[in-house]
Amino acid sequence: MKKYIVGNWKMNQTLGEIETFFKELDLTKDLNCETWIAPQALHISPVLNGSASQSKCIFVGAQNISENENGAFTGENSAASLKDIGCIFTLVGHSERRTLYKEDHALLNKKLHHALSKELKVIFCIGETLEERKNGMTDAVLKYQLSEGLKGINKDNLENLIIAYEPIWAIGTGEVATPEQAEEAHRAIRDWLVANLEGAAAEVPLLYGGSVKPSNAEGLLSQSNIDGALVGGASLKGKDFSDLAKIASQLS
Ligand code: PGA
Repeated sequence: MKKYIVGNWKMNQTLGEIETFFKELDLTKDLNCETWIAPQALHISPVLNGSASQSKCIFVGAQNISENENGAFTGENSAASLKDIGCIFTLVGHSERRTLYKEDHALLNKKLHHALSKELKVIFCIGETLEERKNGMTDAVLKYQLSEGLKGINKDNLENLIIAYEPIWAIGTGEVATPEQAEEAHRAIRDWLVANLEGAAAEVPLLYGGSVKPSNAEGLLSQSNIDGALVGGASLKGKDFSDLAKIASQLS
């Protein structure tokens, strides 16, 4: 399976910085990995243009979508419109959405189904807090997030599902999970998917996220159940993003 490097730019970048990102980007055509970026919604078009004009093979997606079709939902972004302008994926359930914006399991499940109905791929994010890990609850928390968040998913839309395991204590902290910790969680996620979903559950790509950077990517991406990385801070610079893609490509 091709490995994935997915940049989550969060609420960062200016137009000038996006231009510099593309100038520094060094992705050759023979790279054998998926390179995706989720910029702020208002930067989706500039990133699509930057990628197209420089023939860079970057696919673009959203960090969040509305669970609603269209209409009077001021400030929201519709999945259909995102698909229409060229997005291929969206994140759903990032821990910042869960904690800062109080998005609960039921809402995330609606967003997941709505995005899939518009043929957007979904990177569904799960992960435990430090306290939950210390109390030995990691497995139970991940399973609960999967069973609530993926309710109603069937084998027909499994091919558009990607899971990102992002331990909350590792996001933006510089404290990365060890390859063994990450692999253990990914194996538990894989086992749950295979036991609970039919069809191609064993093929669902599983990404690790949380303080990934070029210097620690190889150890993580070489684990057998880690199919890629969801990267925040280190995805903002073209050089780091390219270095991550090269590491992923070698391990694909
Ligand atoms: P980070 O963010 O790489 O800056 O830790 C990862 C994420 O939140 O997806």
